[in-house]
Amino acid sequence: MPLAAQHWIAPAWGGPEQWRLVGTTVPDPGPGEITVRVRAAGMNPADRKHVAAPRPGAALPVPIGYEVSGEIVAIGPETRIGSGEARVGDEVIAFRVQGGYASALTMPAEKAFRKPAPLSHAEAANLLLAGTTAAEMLERVQAQSGDTILLHGASGAVGVMVLQLAALRGVRVIGTASEAGAERVRRFGGIPIAYGPGLLDRVRALDLPVNAALDAVGTDEAVDVSLALVDDLARIVTIAAPGRAAEHGFLSIAGSQPASAEFRDGIRGELARLADEGLLEVPLARTYPLADAVEATLFLAEQHPGGKLALLP
Ligand SMILES: NC(=O)c1ccc[n+]([C@@H]2O[C@H](COP(=O)([O-])OP(=O)(O)OC[C@H]3O[C@@H](n4cnc5c(N)ncnc54)[C@H](OP(=O)(O)O)[C@@H]3O)[C@@H](O)[C@H]2O)c1
Repeated sequence: MPLAAQHWIAPAWGGPEQWRLVGTTVPDPGPGEITVRVRAAGMNPADRKHVAAPRPGAALPVPIGYEVSGEIVAIGPETRIGSGEARVGDEVIAFRVQGGYASALTMPAEKAFRKPAPLSHAEAANLLLAGTTAAEMLERVQAQSGDTILLHGASGAVGVMVLQLAALRGVRVIGTASEAGAERVRRFGGIPIAYGPGLLDRVRALDLPVNAALDAVGTDEAVDVSLALVDDLARIVTIAAPGRAAEHGFLSIAGSQPASAEFRDGIRGELARLADEGLLEVPLARTYPLADAVEATLFLAEQHPGGKLALLP
C-alpha cells in the first residue's frame, strides 16, 4: 500500500528560507525499485547550491537531498539492490537519490547498498557523496603510493574522505585547515597546515615535493598556491572553482558531468565495503530533526560545520 510521508521541496529557485516540508504519498515499488524508510538524510552543500538558481533540465518543485540511510520497507518483484540480494527490513544506504530529505521514498534499487555496520544511520547517510567525490579526485590526478599531495579544505567532509582514501593508497597529504580543523586532519593521517596569507611559504617550508593538488574549497588562494606548486595541470583538480579551472586548464569535476557520474556510481559499493570493514569513518558534527532542515542548511552554508550534518525524520 502506498505510504504517507513528508519531504522537503524547493518550490522556487533561491535560498533555503523558501523550502517547504510537505506531505506526499510514496508509491509502491515497481520492478527494480525499493521503498526505504529514512532513518537519516545526509546533508551536502550541493543540496542548497543546486536549487539556488535555475538549472538546465531541472523542473520545480525540486525535491531536496541526495543521500539517505534507512531500512527497506517494500521491495519490487525480482529486485536486487546495488550490493546484491535484499529483503524487507534490511538496512541500506542510498546515493544519488532525488528527495532524500524525507521520511520515506521509493527509489531505483541499484542506488542502494547494504549499510556499513560500524556506522550509525546519521554517519552512513553521509558516506557516499563526499566519499565518491574524494575517490574521483584522487583517481583523476593519478595519486599513487609515494606521492605527496596538497589538499585544500582537508578538515571538511570531502577533505576527510580524501585523507582516509589517500592513507589506504600510501599517499602522503598536506592538508589545509583552520586551527580548529587541524586536529581532524592529523587524526586522519594528514599534515595540517593553516590556510590564509602566507600559505605558499608555509607549504614550501615543509620541504616536501608536492606531486598533485586537490582543491575542495575553491578560493583564489587555493588555486593560486596549487598552480605555484604543481607544474603538471593534469595533476591539479578542483571541485569548487570551475571558472579558475577553465581559465588555467586544470581539471574541474562535478557529479553532473557524465564521466564523473559514471565513476562515482561505480565506486559506491567499494566505499560501502571499506566502511563496513571499519576502514572509513564519517565524522559527524550534529544531527537535526527533519523539520529543522532550513536551520541546518544555513549552518552548513557557513562553511565550518566541523563534520557532517544529518536530518533525522
Ligand atoms: N564538484 C563536486 O563534485 C563537489 C562534490 C562535493 C562537494 N563539492 C563542493 O566542495 C566544497 C567542500 O564540500 P564539503 O562537503 O567538504 O564542505 P564542508 O564539509 O562544509 O567543508 C568545508 C571546508 O572548507 C574549509 N574552509 C572554509 N573556508 C575556507 C577558506 N577560506 N580557505 C580554506 N578552507 C576553508 C573549512 O575548513 P575549517 O572548518 O577548518 O575552517 C571546511 O573544512 C563545497 O563548496 C561543495 O559545494 C563539490
